[in-house]
Amino acid sequence: GEQGTAKGGKVLLAKPRGYCAGVDRAVQTVEKALELYGAPVYVRKQIVHNKHVVKTLEGLGAIFVDETDDVPEGAIVIFSAHGVAPVVHDKAAERNLKTIDATCPLVTKVHREAVRFAKDDFDILLIGHQGHPEVIGTSGEAPAHIQLVDGPADVSNVTVRDPDKIVWLSQTTLSVDETNETVDALRERFPSLQSPPSDDICYATQNRQTAIREIAARADLVIVVGSRNSSNSVRLVEVAKDYGAKDGRLVDYAEEIDPAWLEGVETVGVSSGASAPDILVRGVLDFLAAHGYDDVEEIESVKEHMVFALPHELRKDLRA
Ligand code: F3S
Repeated sequence: GEQGTAKGGKVLLAKPRGYCAGVDRAVQTVEKALELYGAPVYVRKQIVHNKHVVKTLEGLGAIFVDETDDVPEGAIVIFSAHGVAPVVHDKAAERNLKTIDATCPLVTKVHREAVRFAKDDFDILLIGHQGHPEVIGTSGEAPAHIQLVDGPADVSNVTVRDPDKIVWLSQTTLSVDETNETVDALRERFPSLQSPPSDDICYATQNRQTAIREIAARADLVIVVGSRNSSNSVRLVEVAKDYGAKDGRLVDYAEEIDPAWLEGVETVGVSSGASAPDILVRGVLDFLAAHGYDDVEEIESVKEHMVFALPHELRKDLRA
């Protein structure tokens, strides 16, 4: 049914939400490269997993390709925030491409851990989602040493050479709880399993999950703004449901909200994934206000201050 406009419905707005430092840097990298070198600038894969961001950058002259083979000889190519395997750098060099690497520094950190443990001849159990570009990139650092573990159910498939010389690492955008479950299951099979030297799940993923947990139990419905292929956005919906939200939905745009979802709903929780721009959240808040949910309370659970410098290749050219 149609919702009245004088309903007095409540909105709980999670904070932190939306852009993380790695996404902000990656998007700025493409924008600044377009300004500096002029269009077109090629980008390997979606720079970040968000439909709106990709469409907007396409409008400014970015061309998104799947592989460096699709980039003309000698052109400029930007690598996405999710990171690339070393072989991708090699291929780009063979084709004489000018590369700008927008890999998030927190993904690079995991790559370094992988290289170091592989050098010490460890078997590396990389917890992550099959097919995600980040795990493809990380695995490419040491393919012979790394095997993917896609959740607790995958633990029984693991085989190792020496159970006393194994370490787990992870994708940066997983559910904290599910990762702990996977690690517990791994440790049950392999008691001497080592942990990464520091958290691989990044600060932004952790903080957004903490923030949505705080509002989930009070919300009849939680709406997360983000794209289907955005791992951390999909996790936010799962976490909201795990922590008591009666319903949880992922939308790219406010227009995707079905008013039927609002039936019987008094309180709506709102958040957004690390790759979703806040203008889309404002669109959702406007939509909700138009449907009677105009009492908005922002609940901040953690303060964030992280900022990353632009890729050095780009900074160098910006100075010149
Ligand atoms: Fe980096 Fe985490 Fe964002 S790994 S790109 S800061 S979600």
